[in-house]
Amino acid sequence: MLQDLKQLPADPILGLSARYQQDENPEKVDLGVGVYKDDNGKTIIMSAVQKAFDHLAATEGSKVYVSPAGYPGFIEHVSKLIFGESLSDFGHGKIGAVQTPGGCGALRLGFDLIAANSPQSSAWVSNPTWANHVPIIGAAGLEHRVYDYYDHATSSINFAAMCDSLQNAKEGDVVLIHGCCHNPTGADISTDQADKLISIINERSLIPFIDMAYQGFANGLEEDSILVRSIFQACPEAFLTYSCSKNFGLYRERTGAVFVKGNNQDCGSAIVTHLNKIARESYSMPPSHGAAIVTTILESENLQEEWKSELIEMQQRMLHLRSLFDGHLKAIDIGSNVADVANQSGMFSMLNISPQQVELLQKDSSIYMPSNGRVNIAGLTEQKIPYVVNAIKNCL
Ligand code: LMR
Repeated sequence: MLQDLKQLPADPILGLSARYQQDENPEKVDLGVGVYKDDNGKTIIMSAVQKAFDHLAATEGSKVYVSPAGYPGFIEHVSKLIFGESLSDFGHGKIGAVQTPGGCGALRLGFDLIAANSPQSSAWVSNPTWANHVPIIGAAGLEHRVYDYYDHATSSINFAAMCDSLQNAKEGDVVLIHGCCHNPTGADISTDQADKLISIINERSLIPFIDMAYQGFANGLEEDSILVRSIFQACPEAFLTYSCSKNFGLYRERTGAVFVKGNNQDCGSAIVTHLNKIARESYSMPPSHGAAIVTTILESENLQEEWKSELIEMQQRMLHLRSLFDGHLKAIDIGSNVADVANQSGMFSMLNISPQQVELLQKDSSIYMPSNGRVNIAGLTEQKIPYVVNAIKNCL
C-alpha cells in the first residue's frame, strides 16, 4: 500500500528550522519561522505564563478529558480580549466558538465547516498569504482563488486591485483576511479600506474569514481587534480564527479558537454542536494545557497586567528593530528591493528578492528566511542588522 510513497519536500517555513540548526556558521541568523526572540536570540517563556504554569502544576489535580469545545472558561476570556466586555454588540447568540489545537486547527475546523455546508464556495486568499493557508483550504476540500494584495514596487497594498479581484467572487465565496500583522508582508489595510472591503463583502454576499494570529503585536490589543470587531458587527455571517501561539508565546501548546457568526438568532449553540462534531471526528478534543494557562492569566488581574506589559515589551522591541533595520536598508541603495519595514506591522516584512537570492543569502551568509523573502523582524538583533543588510546588498 505505501511502497510507492516518495519523500515530500520540507515545509517551506518549518523546514527552515532543521537546516538552521545544522548550520555551524557562528554568524548564522534565523529570520525564518515566526517565533518571537529576545535580544539574546532566545524564545523564553513569558513570566506570566510561567507563573500560571506553576499555579496549575500545584492545583490542577486531574488530567481527565475536557469536552470537544475545550478548556472551561477559555473561550469566554479570549472572546473578551477580542470583542471587549460585551459580545452582545456583535450578535452574541449568533456566535458559536470552540477552543482548537492552535490557529492551524482553528483554520481547519472553520474550513471544514464551510466545506460541509457550502462545498461550492471558493476561498479567496491574498497574494501573497501565509504558506499554510492554501494547503489547509485544499485539505478541507475547497477550491482557493487569489485576490491582489501587495505591490512590491510601492511596498504597500494595492487596494484598488484588491477590490477589483473581489468583484470576481461569487455569492457565498469566502474572503480570507488577516486580522492584523499581515503574514508575510506586514502591510495591513487601513480603517477606510476596511469599510470599503466590508461594503464589497456585503454587497456581493461574501463570507469574511479573519485569521488573527498576532493580536497585540501591531498597535496594541484593543487597536488590533478593530478590523475583527467591524466585520463581526457589519457582516451577517463571519469566521474568526485565533491563535495564542505568539501573543502568549505558547507555540508548542497548540492553543487557539474558532468563532463563527451565523445569521439566525440563537444559532450560536447549533454552530458549536457542528464544530464539536468535526473536532470529535478528527482529534476528539483540543489539548488543554495552553488554554488552562491562558485562562489562569486572564482570570487573574495581576497576571493579566503582567502579561499585557510583557506583550507591550515585545511589540516595542519589534518596532525598534523595524526602525533600525529600515534605516540600514535605506542607507544602502538597493532601490525597489527594499521593503517599507518601518511602516509595516508585526513580525514580518517581505524583501523584494528572488528565491535564488534567498538561496544565496543562506549559502553565503547563513541567513535563513522562506523563499518568498519574508523576514521575521523578531529574529534580528541590533548587532546582527548590519551583517544582514550587508549580506542582502551582496546577494542582489
Ligand atoms: C510562521 O508563519 O512562520 C508561523 O506562523 C509558524 C508556522 O506555523 O508557519
